[in-house]
Amino acid sequence: MTGMARDTPAGDLRLADLTKRFGSFTAVDDLSLTIGQGSFFALLGASGCGKTTTLRMIAGLEEPTSGQVLLGDTDITRLRPYRRPVNTVFQSYALFPHLTIFENVAFGLRRRGIRSVDDQVRRMLSLVQLDGLGPRRPAQLSGGQQQRVALARALINKPQVLLLDEPLGALDLKLRRQMQIELKRIQTEVGITFVHVTHDQEEAMAMADTVAVMNAGRIEQQGAPADLYEFPATAFVANFLGQSNLLAGEAAGASGGDVAVTAHGARFSVPAGRSRADRGPVHLGVRPEKLHLVGSAAQVPHGHQHVTGVVTDASYVGVSTQYLLRTGWGTELSVFAANSGASTPVQVGSEAVAYWDPRHAFLLPRDAADTDWTAPVLDEPVGVSS
Ligand SMILES: Nc1ncnc2c1ncn2[C@@H]1O[C@H](COP(=O)(O)OP(=O)(O)O)[C@@H](O)[C@H]1O
Ligand SMILES: [Mg+2]
Repeated sequence: MTGMARDTPAGDLRLADLTKRFGSFTAVDDLSLTIGQGSFFALLGASGCGKTTTLRMIAGLEEPTSGQVLLGDTDITRLRPYRRPVNTVFQSYALFPHLTIFENVAFGLRRRGIRSVDDQVRRMLSLVQLDGLGPRRPAQLSGGQQQRVALARALINKPQVLLLDEPLGALDLKLRRQMQIELKRIQTEVGITFVHVTHDQEEAMAMADTVAVMNAGRIEQQGAPADLYEFPATAFVANFLGQSNLLAGEAAGASGGDVAVTAHGARFSVPAGRSRADRGPVHLGVRPEKLHLVGSAAQVPHGHQHVTGVVTDASYVGVSTQYLLRTGWGTELSVFAANSGASTPVQVGSEAVAYWDPRHAFLLPRDAADTDWTAPVLDEPVGVSS
């Protein structure tokens, strides 16, 4: 039998209170995570938040300051990298330039002294859709093809866990999208646990079963992409995963299944099930695409809530038009209107009303000092009509 020894640790990958300090700087801060066996897990966060350091500790390339890495019930924290059933694919493919594609993929098997590699290599090349390219050298392949070779070279070792550190970072947007779908297919086919690191929120959401949003060495929130997006737990997540309009308000407790909120002199309510705080300082959140623009309050459908303002910007971006609505208290709200042909454009400078279904709002606890938190549509608005 080839592949890993029978006593190879298997099961869920668990990080327990994992911490890494570089001098006095804490890169990874008491991280605890369970990554289900066979799942496609994405670690999402801005550059410098500790993603690569976390992967390196899982791979055994970096020693934790404290905490453990476990695979099933086995503590692998002190295992040498090559003793772990873990492989890594990096952004830089790191292929051997002087070896053929075939030999690049066969490398792990040859190193373990396995002689008849033809079948396995051919199967791997077929899995990553590079049939027939075995005799070529890396320089004769495109970036996307080279990344597939790197993937095949890692998968042929039949690791329990495959770590992918921004593997698509060097590819252009169209190819990235293609490779995202391709990677998902391959993961489903091989059933290996994938831990995919990216700073691209769309990529994380498109690919993973579970996304963990990382910020300054800690996990802010984890869950299924739709759950994170529809009901973010923190203001950071609400604005790192897409955009949110967050209005500073005061909650007055729950009654009858709703939480009453006063914000900027107006009264709103949010279902208790969508509220992570029901008393004291809160942020009332609504996603830009959940806001709808109409000309007057009389057009707001029953059961909806609204704010009034003046449209200060309209950016036509193809699939949607992104508006800014300046409210009476001076905050600019983002409103995305799908260009489905169903609604007429709203003119910049006109008064408008933005309304929403309270079931699409969410309530977060707020530091008393925090004010409204809204993100501008674009740094440099384009297509402004007047
Ligand atoms: N060997 C090191 N020595 C000192 N600081 C480091 C070292 N490796 C990483 N860091 C710091 O730790 C933080 C997290 O780095 P990294 O894990 O590479 O982040 P990410 O992959 O999310 O961009 C960064 O501020 C980085 O400068
Ligand atoms: Mg990194």
